[in-house]
Amino acid sequence: MTTFLITGASRGIGLGLVERLAARGDRVLACARDPAAPDLAALAGRHSDLITPHRLDVGDPDSVATLAAALDGQPIDVLINNAGIRGPDRQSALDMDFDGFAQALAINTLAPLRVAQALLPNLRRGERPRIVTVSSIMGQLTGGGAGDVAYRTSKAAVNKVMQGLAAELRPAGVTVVVVHPGWVKTDMGGKGAALTVAQSTRGLVALIDALTVEQTGGFYNHDGQPLEW
Ligand SMILES: NC(=O)c1ccc[n+]([C@@H]2O[C@H](COP(=O)([O-])OP(=O)(O)OC[C@H]3O[C@@H](n4cnc5c(N)ncnc54)[C@H](OP(=O)(O)O)[C@@H]3O)[C@@H](O)[C@H]2O)c1
Repeated sequence: MTTFLITGASRGIGLGLVERLAARGDRVLACARDPAAPDLAALAGRHSDLITPHRLDVGDPDSVATLAAALDGQPIDVLINNAGIRGPDRQSALDMDFDGFAQALAINTLAPLRVAQALLPNLRRGERPRIVTVSSIMGQLTGGGAGDVAYRTSKAAVNKVMQGLAAELRPAGVTVVVVHPGWVKTDMGGKGAALTVAQSTRGLVALIDALTVEQTGGFYNHDGQPLEW
């Protein structure tokens, strides 16, 4: 049995990951701003032996520290930094909501590192420890495109952050990667997206299962293929 900790488990891809992992018998620490969010609570009720909801606002350092203290000494095999936001309504390079831009960086870029640092003692106790951060091809520097500058920048930046973490943790045997989940039908992705949550999470879980330390520092598509930075 593998122990996963997933952020942003209240809905969307995070909730889908919790569902898939519990269905096959893995243990899931399902972290959400509201651990009593209806869909998560219903799922946790059906798998009360496997899913433990925890309160976590990834943007609040006190919340991260409280979670780490509550989990002190518990091994975690896989951390999935999934929580993310699209950022402000106004985020073109010509008309930017700068407070919203800073919030996007706080949640999408800084929080995954803060959570990873806080839970590193747990991961060091885990089996084949892996840190997986859900990024996006919208952060690829090889792609152009106007608009969504706050979101794109926050994802490009978290890719670089995780490259650095991968280099730091390679000697300790902790694998660190970033992944693109595909364009997924969630509140963020919208109804017109290409993939269902089930299709995306099937690929992501297969990718995470097969990860080796040789892949550390990589950027992978949900289908397992390496991506350009
Ligand atoms: N959907 C796509 O097409 C797509 C494509 C590429 C990448 N992604 C990435 O995939 C990840 C999941 O996206 P999604 O499509 O599932 O989005 P979603 O349906 O909007 O869900 C976002 C999740 O993040 C949580 N969250 C937001 N701010 C948080 C905070 N401060 N602390 C803790 N949790 C917080 C939300 O919790 P609340 O319920 O409390 O708001 C929710 O559980 C994100 O990182 C996103 O950037 C998505």
